[in-house]
Amino acid sequence: MLRRRHNDGKVVKITIDGEAVDARAGESVAAAVLAHASGATRTTPVSGAPRASYCMMGVCFECLMEIDGEPNRQGCMVRVEEGMSVRRQQGARDMERAS
Ligand code: FES
Repeated sequence: MLRRRHNDGKVVKITIDGEAVDARAGESVAAAVLAHASGATRTTPVSGAPRASYCMMGVCFECLMEIDGEPNRQGCMVRVEEGMSVRRQQGARDMERAS
C-alpha cells in the first residue's frame, strides 16, 4: 500500500485527463496521478500495455506523461503546480507537437 509522506495541508488544483482534482502542494505529478487516477500513467507505443510509475526517482521512465501540453515528461520529477494540466500518455507521443 502506498502512503503519502508529504502532507502539510496545502492543496493545489490540477486536472488529470481533464478531471479537476486536488493535489497536495509539493508532491510530484506521478504521486498525484497515483493517488487520484490510480493505475497506469501511460500505455506503451507498441502493444498498448498499461505502465505505471515505478521508481519515483527519475530512473525507469515508466511515468511519462503529458504535462501542460508537453509530452514525455517524467511525472515523478515534476512537482504539481496550481492549474497544471496532466494527461496520461497513450502510446507514442504526437510527433506533430514535438519540438
Ligand atoms: S517513476 Fe521511474 S522515472 Fe518516474
